[in-house]
Amino acid sequence: MSGYPDSMLASIAEVERSRATRLGETFPKLPQADADALLQRHHPDYRPEGKRPISIGPNRDDRAPVELVDLLEARPRIAAGDVDLTVVDRDVGVLILGGGGAATVAALWAVEEGLAPEELLIATKLRHGDSNSMMAQGGIQAAVSPTDSPSQHFLDAFGGGHFTNKPELVRALVEDAPGILRWHESLGVLYDRDASGEMLRKHGGGTSRMRMHSAKDYTGMELMRVLRDEARNIGIPVLEFVSAVELLIDADGRVAGAVLVDVETERYTVVRARATVLATGGFGRLHIQGFATTNHYGATADGLVIAYRAGARLRDMDSVQYHPTGAAYPEQLVGQLITEKVRAMGAQPLNRHGEQFVYPLEPRDVEAAAFIRECYEREKHIETLTGFRGVWLDTPMIETIHGKGAIEQNLAAMYRMFTRFGIDMTTQPILVFPTLHYQNGGVEIDPHGRTSVPGLYAAGEVSGGIHGKNRLMGNSLLDYNVFGRRAGRAAAREVLDGACPRGDLSLDHAYRFAAELQRAGIDGNGVSPMLLPDYRGKEALSRRLDIF
Ligand code: FUM
Repeated sequence: MSGYPDSMLASIAEVERSRATRLGETFPKLPQADADALLQRHHPDYRPEGKRPISIGPNRDDRAPVELVDLLEARPRIAAGDVDLTVVDRDVGVLILGGGGAATVAALWAVEEGLAPEELLIATKLRHGDSNSMMAQGGIQAAVSPTDSPSQHFLDAFGGGHFTNKPELVRALVEDAPGILRWHESLGVLYDRDASGEMLRKHGGGTSRMRMHSAKDYTGMELMRVLRDEARNIGIPVLEFVSAVELLIDADGRVAGAVLVDVETERYTVVRARATVLATGGFGRLHIQGFATTNHYGATADGLVIAYRAGARLRDMDSVQYHPTGAAYPEQLVGQLITEKVRAMGAQPLNRHGEQFVYPLEPRDVEAAAFIRECYEREKHIETLTGFRGVWLDTPMIETIHGKGAIEQNLAAMYRMFTRFGIDMTTQPILVFPTLHYQNGGVEIDPHGRTSVPGLYAAGEVSGGIHGKNRLMGNSLLDYNVFGRRAGRAAAREVLDGACPRGDLSLDHAYRFAAELQRAGIDGNGVSPMLLPDYRGKEALSRRLDIF
């Protein structure tokens, strides 16, 4: 029995008819000028109505997605007098905000640097591990083969980011990568290997060498399994279901901890810290321009908002990553990640007539723009019963190329996910459309994870500068490890060198920000940080179908 309705089966028949011919042919890669033109015309980042300038703060006049600017320009949650800052509930060395990969790695390396585990505190909005890090599928890049080098990796990442990345951050990313892989192996991460024990490597979009290392199609979960275990084993304290609502500033203007709110009881906790690491993740749950998302429930830009109020500079906020292959059918899976590894293993993107229309592994922004063009300009899409448009990924090709069982072996989680809905991806293609996947920019950091505000570090998706205007696959699992490690070590070093909050803790920066908003005549944008997305009401129902 097929999980597809009859209306889609006619197009599947066309896909099957063209398969034998396509097996020997790959659509050519686009020349740069054509790729640029495609981006300009079809990538959502180039739609002027999707952005507006930020009115106040360090990035005044910079353009960013409307949904984000609304949060940056909203009122703080805490009004004067709501919290007694003279009562300090927790006093720690390093406070780590967030509970995903960057937070966990920062904590582990702060301990390596010499802090006792009990001098740390991980405070996270959901459970420890609930994060995009956990949901990552395809792999992690590291130049470890004899035919590859960190320089080659640098060129790929810098080119993929349209040469807008901070070069010193890319350098740190690629040079630390081989060491990160060794560290993982020493902790017990089970990467895929061939029969001789060699680590398997694959291409990702925009990579000139095969340097993607994976654990089937749940690489993120495998990494978090090991990292979280390690944090638990060495006794790093974790507070769950508390979210940072504002950073605290001391008399010297340094960040000195945060006010946390319990998401259940709404009770506030004041945490004083000698250094603070922001590792709160990205903004996928803002559903920028109405897109569905691959992101976890807590990805609501909270870290960007509180850092911005504290004076931290953001960068590359005008650029958003739409992963080309979000699930487009069945309805229950819309927006879920279909890893790039599916294309890396040979599945071709096809239109309704079973025709190739784009090179399968263009950089993500180019690939996504080509899908949007096929669906909304050329109108050669496949439409679902609920009116959602998509293109095919011809997954049965994987079994033809790599042999029977290759999908269950390498894409075990995805195979199971589709099987639940009656779709056998070993014999039938799957329907995909771009989905909001990653925040390319964020809080600007230096190579040690330092932000522009003293005492505040950032790592992982909340940080900006590493990927410029487009991240390549596998560089985010790498990024949270490299910069989690660097930020954790630098924050611990600052504490070990004697950093200490001076004078009273204060929220004046947030009140000044609110006053400036009022003076600028900005009112009515609600309150922020958002903490959790709201899926009630007609806005949620109309999402997705109204994208274009
Ligand atoms: O396609 C993927 O598996 C996603 C990987 C990434 O965003 O790095």
